[in-house]
Amino acid sequence: MTQFLFVSDLDHTLIGDDRALENLNHILQQHRTTYGTKIVYATGRSLFLYKQLTQEKNLLPPDGLITAVGTEVYFNPKSEEIDQNWANLLSQNWQREKILKITENFSELTPQPSYEQGEFKISFYLPLVAAEKTIEQLQNIFQQAALEVKLIYSGSKDLDIIPQQADKGLALKFIQERWQMNDEQTVVCGDSGNDIALFQTGKTRGILVGNAQPELIRWYQQNKTDYHYLAQENYAQGILEGLSKLQFIPIMN
Ligand code: GLC
Ligand code: MG
Repeated sequence: MTQFLFVSDLDHTLIGDDRALENLNHILQQHRTTYGTKIVYATGRSLFLYKQLTQEKNLLPPDGLITAVGTEVYFNPKSEEIDQNWANLLSQNWQREKILKITENFSELTPQPSYEQGEFKISFYLPLVAAEKTIEQLQNIFQQAALEVKLIYSGSKDLDIIPQQADKGLALKFIQERWQMNDEQTVVCGDSGNDIALFQTGKTRGILVGNAQPELIRWYQQNKTDYHYLAQENYAQGILEGLSKLQFIPIMN
């Protein structure tokens, strides 16, 4: 066993089965103490909602934190000091007002609450029935307007609009470079659309929890590799299963 970089989404991935999470936490904490393994959470939540979750659930303090679908990076999460280099990178070509002018015309888009809107993240609810068509139309308009944005649809209900240079995977790459950790030493865990970027950026090892959403399963099936593993078990139990299969922790019976 050696040091690795553990990266996990929170809602419906790490969170969902409190007992399994206890077991996983125990193993990860031991690994961190013994080998210097690092823990990063990569969530769609704002820092505000992330902090709320830390009050409700037993989460290990992470070594790094990615919030707001990869639009915010924290190298010292306790300090809540946002990484300004990442923010500067994303601020190039980000034209919030122009984006909002366009989205205003789509009645299918319902803005998420204000605490879910970030400096580089505009978020809506969008029903599944309207999703495909609306996303295609938006993409065309943004392209014509030369707006460099990325549309991410998750959980068959959430649409995030973020800068092209952002997403959970690119934020992770930024952290890997800072810590000089490579893809073979890195394992990512996720359940939904905003996690696809974690799996498709580079060749990090990956675990899809058994309860993963259709959009992530579909992506996995269309991009099969031997370093991504679809677990049978759900939530943290699926992560434990995957860590063992991918040989980051000893084989479980
Ligand atoms: C989280 C965020 C929400 C976002 C969703 C999908 O639930 O709170 O704003 O749309 O993740 O990325
Ligand atoms: Mg999730």
